[in-house]
Amino acid sequence: MRQQLSHFLKNRDIHVSPSAILITSGSLQALQLIAGGLLAKGSTILYESPSYIQSVPVFESAGTVTVGLTGKDAITQQIHKHLRTSDAALFYANPTFHNPTGRIWDLAERQQLLATCQQLSLPIIEDDAYYDLWLDTPPPPPLKALDSQGTVLYMGTFSKSMSPGLRIGWVAGPEPVINRLADSKMQTDYGASSISQYVAEQWLSTGINVQVTERIRSALKERRDKVLRYLDAYFTPIATWERPAGGFYIWLKMHQSIPINTLFEKAFQQGILLNPGQIYERNNTQHLRISYAYASMDQMQYGLKKLAEFIRDLQKIL
Ligand SMILES: Cc1ncc(COP(=O)(O)O)c(C=O)c1O
Repeated sequence: MRQQLSHFLKNRDIHVSPSAILITSGSLQALQLIAGGLLAKGSTILYESPSYIQSVPVFESAGTVTVGLTGKDAITQQIHKHLRTSDAALFYANPTFHNPTGRIWDLAERQQLLATCQQLSLPIIEDDAYYDLWLDTPPPPPLKALDSQGTVLYMGTFSKSMSPGLRIGWVAGPEPVINRLADSKMQTDYGASSISQYVAEQWLSTGINVQVTERIRSALKERRDKVLRYLDAYFTPIATWERPAGGFYIWLKMHQSIPINTLFEKAFQQGILLNPGQIYERNNTQHLRISYAYASMDQMQYGLKKLAEFIRDLQKIL
């Protein structure tokens, strides 16, 4: 499995030997192992806010202090500023089709982030769950591909393209770090399921992954375009959004704050489950995360139309 993965990562311009890779039970476990096994209690973790729902709680439950930085344009300045006044142990990044915003860092932004972190000796965890799911043009190389100093720990997963239930993810980085994480993994669960690893190895070695990923991309692209049309039809007067170039998500920004608990209840009664902004960023009352990856297009059209009506009604009352 590790040999196949080492080969697979070359497509992303990442050159790591099999012994510099640890197979994990999904990439969430990679985060847990890093948080629990590498970080000292009380150390500070910087991250781009909003952030993947499981990322900040994992760091916090390992006893670290988390500091969310906002607006990717200013993130390198914020890192500089933060490190002038205090220490930080690492920066957690999700630069390609970010969950929940769908944003992507371009090559110059990646180079600048990496140069800043390396200049300040700040290691990076790069969480690259969505890299293969580009819809228009392939993304720039991962930070890990640009990393000549070995300061990036690179996490990935097959949950988004093959199967989330298989629980196969990985972390790649300097061998001493990987060996330490492997010890923690051994103490946690003795290793990832052999059957899952066998399936994942076959997925790569037979080349099926290439065909299936292409099929997923074209289905996702169709879904994204339809959902963008529904948004144009129902949300133009009340919200703004960016067209995602890949991944699963659209980060919808309402012109005004919304009473999120009331909206959640109202939507829930109509069979619509919402992902409000505040589950990705404390005190966020202006955003909703829309995923075009799972529900049927009929459900999406119904849900978005109803939601827009509810939001307009709630805003009239305010
Ligand atoms: C950014 C990001 N990282 C990691 C994960 C975890 O994926 P898994 O543990 O299934 O590999 C997810 C899943 O939603 C995600 O969006």
